[in-house]
Amino acid sequence: MKFFAQPKRYDDVTTLSDEDLICYCIEVDKKTIVGAIRNGASTLQAIKEATEACTGSDCKRLNPNGRCCSKEINALIQLEANDV
Ligand code: FES
Repeated sequence: MKFFAQPKRYDDVTTLSDEDLICYCIEVDKKTIVGAIRNGASTLQAIKEATEACTGSDCKRLNPNGRCCSKEINALIQLEANDV
């Protein structure tokens, strides 16, 4: 059984820890998303294929933001691109 940090609403992915979930439907944490980006996944579609994040369908109920996680994934892609 995996243990994750408590779900919390978030607007800024820079405030999240590595263990915080980005995708609540599939239970994919920030470090997994960042790892996929650093391994070459540079688009939302590539992140989906690499991690299965953003492929769920119960976002409104499971995600504390009440919506899909694509905004946060795109923000992480942007942050990593700016970090190069
Ligand atoms: S929160 Fe990621 S697909 Fe629902």
